[in-house]
Amino acid sequence: MFAMILLTGATGYIGSHTWVELLNAGHEVIGIDNLCNSSEKLLARVESITNIKPNFIRGDIRNIDVLRKIFQSHNIDCVVHFAALKAVGESVEKPLEYYDNNINGLLQLLRTCNEFSCENFVFSSSATVYHTENNPPYFENMALGPVNPYGWTKMMSEQILRNFEVASLSTRVAYLRYFNPVGAHASGLIGENPLGAPNNLMPYIAQVAVGRRELLSIYGGDWPTVDGTGVRDYIHVVDLAKGHMAAIDYLTQQKKSLTVNLGTGVGTSVLQLVHAFEIASKKKIPYEIVSRRVGDIAVSYANTDLAKKLMGWSAHMGVDQMCQDVWRWQSNNPSGY
Ligand code: NAD
Ligand code: UD1
Repeated sequence: MFAMILLTGATGYIGSHTWVELLNAGHEVIGIDNLCNSSEKLLARVESITNIKPNFIRGDIRNIDVLRKIFQSHNIDCVVHFAALKAVGESVEKPLEYYDNNINGLLQLLRTCNEFSCENFVFSSSATVYHTENNPPYFENMALGPVNPYGWTKMMSEQILRNFEVASLSTRVAYLRYFNPVGAHASGLIGENPLGAPNNLMPYIAQVAVGRRELLSIYGGDWPTVDGTGVRDYIHVVDLAKGHMAAIDYLTQQKKSLTVNLGTGVGTSVLQLVHAFEIASKKKIPYEIVSRRVGDIAVSYANTDLAKKLMGWSAHMGVDQMCQDVWRWQSNNPSGY
């Protein structure tokens, strides 16, 4: 067990679910977030789930003085790094903001880790780093080739970390490539809370079901898939959070780096997800099929053998459970936090 884990982006969607799992497992955690895409109200929710008051600093990871203060006053020996901007369309419009936040933020964190000899680093990467010409399922050793600035920040971050590992010798990194995280904590107290119109499918469906939006637009009905709609590997965010704990265990026990997909290995189409959500919510989800979204691909899903082999981790929850948990969260919190 670590002395203390620093979670960046701690009040965000995946960060908050991971925080809960880490506290429940007895880890000491300090969270940092600048709240650019999350709310401090989350803290009370984490406390009511875990009965532990979360240790939180509001701050920007690009500010090295803030990071130094944290490392000076806490014995941090593992960083779990979620803080990043993540909207693909926005990254095309504002590439400099994305490179500044995602790359500069990582550099400041690594400088601080170096100064304070923190040797364990868990990085939020994404399936978006894989080259779209690969045929799914995606294996970790397949060619990389992102197609938008957000994806490039993830691939560049992986590269920076790999170079840093060579230079610092004792640093170990878990490169975790997430597929499509969805779902919410079973308590219904925390979940995904997008600000503005959701870019991603599951939160959009949930907001239609709860009456915040009228109609789901399905981007393309003529993809070469089971029903013509796009296929993705949806993974429950609590399974994903547990994947981080498995990665932390691996870093401590094996004292080696690893690169693994975190997905289920199962592909689900847009229409299949809509129908599963209709069953979970007992609501009709009105939709229309519109033209394809620029940059989309037909099918994406993971090969998950390596995560199982190296970390003994695999996802357990299926799409029905994901929809039930999202619906509990969304119907209990129709306007978010
Ligand atoms: P999120 O936006 O909910 O959480 C990210 C958090 O980081 C937010 O709370 C935001 O306020 C904070 N943040 C951003 N920049 C910061 C900075 N400079 N300093 C301090 N805090 C900052 O996103 P999420 O879905 O929880 O994603 C977490 C990580 O996982 C991100 O790195 C994201 O790129 C990656 N990821 C997400 C998905 C997904 O579909 N959600 C898929 C693959 C990878
Ligand atoms: C998105 C990101 C990707 C990220 C991934 C993981 C984009 C363009 N890509 O991809 O970088 O790694 O999430 O979370 O945002 N869909 C609709 N209607 C909608 C929304 C989506 O039909 O309103 C369809 C899409 O065309 C796709 C599927 O639903 O077939 C899933 O979309 P989404 O949730 O945005 O995820 P990804 O496209 O996989």
